Amino acid sequence: MRALRYSAYGSPDVLKLGEVPKPEPGPGQVRMRVHAGSVNPIDWKRASGEYRLVMPVKFPSVPMYDAAGLVDALGPDVTGFAAGDRVHARIADASGGAAAEYALVGAGVLARIPEAMSDGEAAALPLAGMTAVQALRDKAGMPLSGAGERVLVVGASGGVGHFAVQIARAAGATVVGVCSARNAELVLSLGAHAVIDYASADPYAGQPPFDIVLDCVGSDAAPFLGLLVRGGRYVTCLPSPGILLRSLFNPFTSRSVRTILLQPSAADLVYLDELYSAAQLRVVIDSRFPLAELAAAWRRSITGRVVGKVIVDVDR
Ligand SMILES: NC(=O)c1ccc[n+]([C@@H]2O[C@H](COP(=O)([O-])OP(=O)(O)OC[C@H]3O[C@@H](n4cnc5c(N)ncnc54)[C@H](OP(=O)(O)O)[C@@H]3O)[C@@H](O)[C@H]2O)c1
Repeated sequence: MRALRYSAYGSPDVLKLGEVPKPEPGPGQVRMRVHAGSVNPIDWKRASGEYRLVMPVKFPSVPMYDAAGLVDALGPDVTGFAAGDRVHARIADASGGAAAEYALVGAGVLARIPEAMSDGEAAALPLAGMTAVQALRDKAGMPLSGAGERVLVVGASGGVGHFAVQIARAAGATVVGVCSARNAELVLSLGAHAVIDYASADPYAGQPPFDIVLDCVGSDAAPFLGLLVRGGRYVTCLPSPGILLRSLFNPFTSRSVRTILLQPSAADLVYLDELYSAAQLRVVIDSRFPLAELAAAWRRSITGRVVGKVIVDVDR
């Protein structure tokens, strides 16, 4: 089968197209015919070697965590899915990623794609969408319904942020998005009650306090702690040793500092699919690239200017 792989750390140029054997599903696994994937910053950050100490890459590596396609074959003991089912998932590290015609996925993290959802949308949702759900619900303690919180989403136009705005709004929160002026209209259209232009002179002046700050851009809690109510929660999507330490020992403030490490979950993906089907969540697509141009898709993500998600069409 066709796959893109890399065998050394480096820039997107390390990606090489080649032929590799079609993988055989083991116990609990499903083999997917991949139709589309989506880029997440972790894909190119890992390839760059940035995380080599904490998450070393086993070479050669087929990247891309997000996948949408069809069930092709079932491993022993897999029930509940059949060949031909349209499915999507954030696939695990060990068995190879979605930058290939076929990929192995644990049946426990797989969800059926709603009929109205395109393959590109289905590929955009898993990693970024589940990160937004788990950051808000599990780390910030926001209920997914009847939420009365005031939530600030920093990076509201990006992959995680644009889902977080919609999830918090659907939950009943009052949502303020931090984005650039050019993305303000989009973020408001996703359901934010207000936006703040991060390039303005004193962006947070005059803001009533927030219960939750979800930071999808940085991991410096200090500028945000003063914006939180007593008992407020700052959650960053960018784990760092400093943040991990601070989340354990935070004696000087009644505001908590937390970070998120996504745990793939079929139930959370189904929750996102249901929001989509109820027209409470839409997927914003920044750009699309064929599999052979994955390096260009990564370069687009590396600019840091992506609005929504970058899709990779594996079957084209
Ligand atoms: N811990 C985990 O499990 C986990 C999971 C998912 C993601 N992450 C991490 O979370 C981060 C966000 O991921 P992502 O997929 O959302 O990234 P992304 O889509 O690449 O984010 C790009 C967006 O960030 C906006 N942005 C850049 N600087 C900003 C600023 N100063 N203030 C507000 N917005 C700004 C950009 O808007 P403009 O162009 O308008 O500036 C752009 O729309 C990444 O570092 C990723 O690695 C971690």
